[in-house]
Amino acid sequence: MRTSLIYRNGTVYEVLMRALYGRHYTARYRAIAELIPEGASAIDLCCGPATLYTRYLRRKSVVYTGLDLNERFVARVVEAGGRGEVWNLRSDDALPPADYVIMQASLYHFLPEPRPVIDRMLAAATKQVIIAEPVRNLATSNNPVLATIGKRFTDAGDGEQAHRFTEQTLDEFFAEYGPRVVRQSLIAGGREKLYVLTA
Ligand SMILES: C[S@@+](CC[C@H](N)C(=O)[O-])C[C@H]1O[C@@H](n2cnc3c(N)ncnc32)[C@H](O)[C@@H]1O
Repeated sequence: MRTSLIYRNGTVYEVLMRALYGRHYTARYRAIAELIPEGASAIDLCCGPATLYTRYLRRKSVVYTGLDLNERFVARVVEAGGRGEVWNLRSDDALPPADYVIMQASLYHFLPEPRPVIDRMLAAATKQVIIAEPVRNLATSNNPVLATIGKRFTDAGDGEQAHRFTEQTLDEFFAEYGPRVVRQSLIAGGREKLYVLTA
């Protein structure tokens, strides 16, 4: 599978994410981890190298499953003691059930039609669906290196993704889920927006 540089190796991915989020890097994971109680089950879609699990959820004995297209990332989840499955989330297959179904920084991979994946998440969750999505597009960063990463390095193995959300387009999208949206707030210094939906 051919992917962008950022997705080739878990360590490269983490170094680039640290550069992109700077001092807000840990806050993006903490904001989600705080919502998952000790011992709950969680499925993390597009889990990447499972930093959410290894640094935050493992110590809370969360029963964690990471799904990702990238077999190297899934292998890291399994090595770290979680469950991991290679899964193309564009497929219509029903997701495994869990108390919490999470997706961070990945909804843009499903544009222009992100509804089917959200609906599968709602069907799988017994408690909540948690989504955090970037709302500051790095492609417009003043830092030319970060801008290049934001524009070009988005290919997870199934094509480059040119479209991104803004805070306004995300708010409009989640407004369609009406009262199911029980919380929405900016996290990680305003770089991502978090939405919590009841299952
Ligand atoms: C920006 S990373 C986010 C990783 C992690 N959630 C985080 O916040 O650190 C996007 C992830 O989505 C995965 N991905 C992209 N398209 C996918 C698809 N169709 N099915 C499954 N995973 C996909 C990529 O392999 C990558 O790990």
